[in-house]
Amino acid sequence: MNADLVLRNVTLPTGRRADIVVADGIVRHVGAPVRAGETIDCTGYTCLPGAVDMHVHMRGGVQAEKEDWRTGTMSAVAGGVTVVVDQPNTVPPITTPELLRARIREAGEGAVCGFAVNAGVTVDADLAGMRDAGAMAFGETFAAPSSYGEGLDPEVLRELFYRIHALGGLATVHAEEVSGPVPATLADHDRARSGAGEARAVQAVLALAPAEMRLHFCHLSTAASVRAARGTVEATPHHLFLSHEMFDPDDTRARVNPPLRDEETRRGLWSCWDRIDVIASDHAPHTVPEKALPFDAAPSGIPGVETMVPLLMAAHRRGQITLSSVIEKTAWRPAAILGILRAGFEPGDRADFALYPDEVTRIDPSSLHAKCGWSPFEGFDAVFPEVVIVHGERAYTCGEYGEACPAWYPGQGFLSQDNK
Ligand code: DOR
Ligand code: ZN
Repeated sequence: MNADLVLRNVTLPTGRRADIVVADGIVRHVGAPVRAGETIDCTGYTCLPGAVDMHVHMRGGVQAEKEDWRTGTMSAVAGGVTVVVDQPNTVPPITTPELLRARIREAGEGAVCGFAVNAGVTVDADLAGMRDAGAMAFGETFAAPSSYGEGLDPEVLRELFYRIHALGGLATVHAEEVSGPVPATLADHDRARSGAGEARAVQAVLALAPAEMRLHFCHLSTAASVRAARGTVEATPHHLFLSHEMFDPDDTRARVNPPLRDEETRRGLWSCWDRIDVIASDHAPHTVPEKALPFDAAPSGIPGVETMVPLLMAAHRRGQITLSSVIEKTAWRPAAILGILRAGFEPGDRADFALYPDEVTRIDPSSLHAKCGWSPFEGFDAVFPEVVIVHGERAYTCGEYGEACPAWYPGQGFLSQDNK
């Protein structure tokens, strides 16, 4: 067998030790050693499949000061994420096949790992055209206004859901309810976009969507919302690890939609761990000067693609969660929901891996790779990968990047067309 790479002495989720043989970006054989172009000894490391972060805002274009595809995906890879799914609330939003194709081109020129791009869901969006052009999923669909996203009226939402369903698409939904005065503190913000309102918004979306439709609820922040949801459920590291009580009342860095909740609600979200299908970062970077604005004017959103799996690995080391649940929620469930080949330890799996050392470290924003240069997780325990493999190639080793592997993952609608 002609192998490009062999990962030696990998401890598999079953506990068995084996060598993983890789050629052309795919796992070919798991078992006895063979010769290869490159060999990596995984003794002493925990080897995880590369994560699929199915909710990131890579910015770029006119927002490249916040982030661009190169820095955003470098940040992803340094955190063990090997495929990112970009949200369409760019400036301008992705609402036509031409804009989608341009976005895919921009990504292909800058990305250092796998990527997919979602289609924007607005009244006048060409949904069928974007499906044919390779959109991965539809949305995030804004059932409430958020940064760079206008909330859609119920009747418009209903019609858009029917159209997405008719296309066989997956609708990803940002469900919130907004009320009251402009917030001046994190606690106000939590009240204005309350947990109870989020759960009601989930129920309202379910009442509007066709019963058999494929729905994915983004970044649910309370146990009640998770319990109210049908379809698949996503939660973010910031709602699991941060509460607004951990910050000064007007600290804009912790301003995000949906808002950080109080400690009790944060703990409640952990009680639903088994019901959460996917952990995704909602990586939504803003610059330091933007976040230095007064609270009511500062944009919502926090960076997190690089710290997502490292925070979960530290939680695993504390005995809080199992390793298999981390693999399921960061790699296997998102791949299955999106219909892309999963990364893993069986022949035929995608050869994306990250090797995590034993040591737990603390998050230091100055050593992260996103352009914005700050993190609300400063000082939190984390386990960062030392080696990351993308498509069978060594993409990252202890802060050094290898050759870029910018594979595009088109959606099922594109793949099922004739002649593709
Ligand atoms: O806080 C948020 N920021 N929530 C969103 O839904 C959008 C995001 C952004 O793009 O900045
Ligand atoms: Zn959102």
